[in-house]
Formats: sequence, C-alpha cells, structure tokens
Amino acid sequence: MHDYRHPAEPFRIKSVESIRLLSRQERLRILQEARYNVFKIKAEDIYIDLLTDSGTGAMSNEQWAALMRGDESYAGARSFYRFEKTVREITGKKFIIPCHQGRVAENVFFSSVLKAGDYVPNNTHFDTTRANTQHKGGIAIDLPCPEAATNEQIPFKGNIDVERLESFIEKKGADKIPVVFMTVTNNSSGGQPVSMANIRETSALCKKHGIRFYFDCARFAENAYFIKQSEPGYQDKSIKEIAQEMFSYADGALMSAKKDGLANIGGFIALNDDGLRQKIIELLIIIEGFPTYGGMSGRDIDAMAAGLQEVLNEEYLAYRVGQIEYFGSIIEQAGAPIIKPTGGHAIFIDAGHYLPHIPVDQFPGQSLTVELYREGGVRAVEIGSLMFGGLDPVTGEKITAPRELVRLAVPRRVYTGSHLEYVADCIARITKRKNDLRGLKIIRQAAFLRHFTADMAPLKEEEIKVG
Ligand code: F0G
Repeated sequence: MHDYRHPAEPFRIKSVESIRLLSRQERLRILQEARYNVFKIKAEDIYIDLLTDSGTGAMSNEQWAALMRGDESYAGARSFYRFEKTVREITGKKFIIPCHQGRVAENVFFSSVLKAGDYVPNNTHFDTTRANTQHKGGIAIDLPCPEAATNEQIPFKGNIDVERLESFIEKKGADKIPVVFMTVTNNSSGGQPVSMANIRETSALCKKHGIRFYFDCARFAENAYFIKQSEPGYQDKSIKEIAQEMFSYADGALMSAKKDGLANIGGFIALNDDGLRQKIIELLIIIEGFPTYGGMSGRDIDAMAAGLQEVLNEEYLAYRVGQIEYFGSIIEQAGAPIIKPTGGHAIFIDAGHYLPHIPVDQFPGQSLTVELYREGGVRAVEIGSLMFGGLDPVTGEKITAPRELVRLAVPRRVYTGSHLEYVADCIARITKRKNDLRGLKIIRQAAFLRHFTADMAPLKEEEIKVG
C-alpha cells in the first residue's frame, strides 16, 4: 500500500522514559510469580507494553502547556468552557457533560435511560458498555455485519447489520429499545471502522421508529480517517468535517477520551435532549462531581480539550493508521496469522490458527501471551477462552469464546517503528518453535471477569492434550 515502510513519526521526542529488558532468567521468575497472568506483572518489568491503547498515550507539548492553564475552580472553571467549545464544535451537540472516563459516562447514561428488560442493540458492545447495560437490567444485543466474522479484505467490517437491526426492532417493539448504539471504531471486532453510509442508514432507521441513536465514540477520529481513505465522496473533506458529519446523524455520544482524546484520563457525554441531561446531571453530582468538572481536575480537562483538537490532524492519523497497518504486515511476515484488514488501534493475532495443537480449553491465546513476555518482555492481552470462556456467572452455563485472539494494542505516540519491529522479531523467533508451546490450566479464578486475576500454571507432560 505504501511505497515506504509507513509514515515516519510526525513528531520528535522531547521527553523520554527509560524502559528495560530484564534477563531471560528474571522474566521466567516474574512469570512464575505472576502465576502466568500478565495483568499481575509490574509495569517496570515490562519492556514493550501493548496491553491497551487506553490512557497510555503520550501528550504533546501543547497538552502539557494546557495543563498549566488548568483552572481548578469548583464551579464554572475556564477549563470547562474551553473543553465544551471544542466538543460542541466536533459533535454539534448542545450539552456537553464531562466524566472522568468512558465507563462512568455509560453508568450515568444507562441509569437514566434503561428500564429492566429493555434491549440495547450495538454493532458490538465493548465489555464495559455491555456490563453497564446488564448492571441496569438491560439486555445487550450485538448485531455486527456478516462480513465481521470473515477474513475478507474489505473495508468497514465494523458496520452494524441494518437488516437484522430492523427485524429486531420489529420483533421486540421500539418501546423496549431506549437506544441503539454504534461503537466507532468497533473495538471488540478488531478495531474495524464503520462507514458513513452505515451510520446514515442506522440513523434513518432509528428515526423512523422514534429510537435514540448514540455513538460510543472512543476512536471517532481513527474512524473518520478510514472513511476519508476508503469511502467514495470523502477524499477531499477534512477529518473534522467527516467527524462533524458522523455526529450529525446521532442524537448523542459517549466518549472515553483516553483513546482519541489523546488524554491519560477523561470522557464525556454529548447530547441535545435537555430532559435527559437534567436526569444525568442529578446522578453525576452524586457519583462524579459538579457538571463543570465531572470527576476531573481542571488541568485534565484542558489537556483533553487540546487532545481532541490535535487528534483531527490528518498527518497524525495517517501515521497512526499507517503504523498499525505496517505492524500487521511485519507480524504476518513473522509467521502469525492476524485479523484483516488491520483496524485503527491494535493487531489481533489468531492464536487458534497459530497454535492449532493447543485445544481451546488449554488456552492457546494465553500460551502465546505468556510466550511473548518470556521471549521479549512484551505484554499483550488474551481475548479468547480465558477472557470469554468458562461458566456464566449468572446462569452457570458453559460459554465458548468466539475466537482465540491475542491483542497487541498500540499506545498513541509512544512506541516508534523500531519498537514494533522488535515485537515482530520476537514473534518470528516464537514461530520457529511454536509447535513446542504448551497450554495452561487455571489454578484459581473469580466468578466475574476472571482473566484479570486468574492464577494459571503450565501443563505437565501427562496433562497435555492435542487440539
Ligand atoms: N468504549 C470503548 C469502545 C472502549 O474501547 C472502552 C475502553 C470504553 C468504552 C470504556 O472506557 O476505559 O475510559 O472507562 N477500552 C479499553 C481497551 C479499556 O483496552 O480497549 P474507559
């Protein structure tokens, strides 16, 4: 696609943070102490940390300068008005409610719109959106487009299935569906973007049935860049214009600004409905704070406002999306199959296909995740049977994960091309001896979200099954 490796970093480095690669012996000891769960490894013992792209980005000099402008007044701080102006300009919404991160926006929003037994369709829920829906008695429904489950090299695999959404609305009735969500980009299906056409159609369908249409817009700028790259009619528009058009089709949006806000903490709700705003604010004051600071310091709000402007820069987005595409290509060359096309913020290795000799109940994704740390001090995250399998904590039924994936999420503006090449080199070394990798077993686990805290152990010779 590019006639060079990928767009070089459109920034130079002004402040550095040392990272170190521990010896192999130390890494083995640390893995043992962490019970083969990388969530339990200290950050200082990691060389390249690809656990998440959330809140892990580097701020610019302009954002650091914005911190100094932060106004720490309890009510009516200048920081809030600067932030409100920025978010209004991008989203076109009247009311902007700050929250300290995405899941709080979800909590106050769903508490204000959901009744027990209501349905919330989404292209694909992110975990916290699903959990917040369920926590308020709602039923989270995923309606990804049929292409999402394939490895076809087509754009916009993050789309919602509009036909299924329409029949779902007709079956359940609009009064049981207080809101339809669209996650841009679609994190849980590989960071895949959603097309403007799909947004427009979904919006029209919701309007026809009198149902609210909202974005979960953590990665809206990356989504806008994909639209500019691949959807006819958008090549000459600016990223800001594309983002504005996206938001024009929605009644509102919830955002975790820890991604495309280029901030280490932050989030918001944007909407036009004054009645709903009042309800949200009542709860916000109880759990987050006054509506001009929403659980954040003034300086955090100013840094987020500056980040939301910077993220619309096309050179930045070309580098960001180009970097992920390049990372995907070198991982494939290193012998690991990945989800294609590459999305906006991460590479997903298909560990089920990479390690076919390890059956799913012996966690091939976790085996690769552990091996990445053992080989090179790299931290990834398993998105497979450890995260999604096991027993349903409510019904007790056995659940199977859709795929055995390992996510390598790339923090924004943190790692250079050579860091990513280092990770691909680690994978190439693992590929050479991948048939020797073994599965793991769970020694101890919690009922909910077990992957965060589970203790694991490598299998003994006699426990190994062949997949
Ligand atoms: N929505 C999406 C699409 C997300 O990816 C996330 C977080 C949230 C909401 C919740 O936001 O963390 O600020 O409360 N995703 C992170 C990740 C944690 O690693 O993908 P939050």
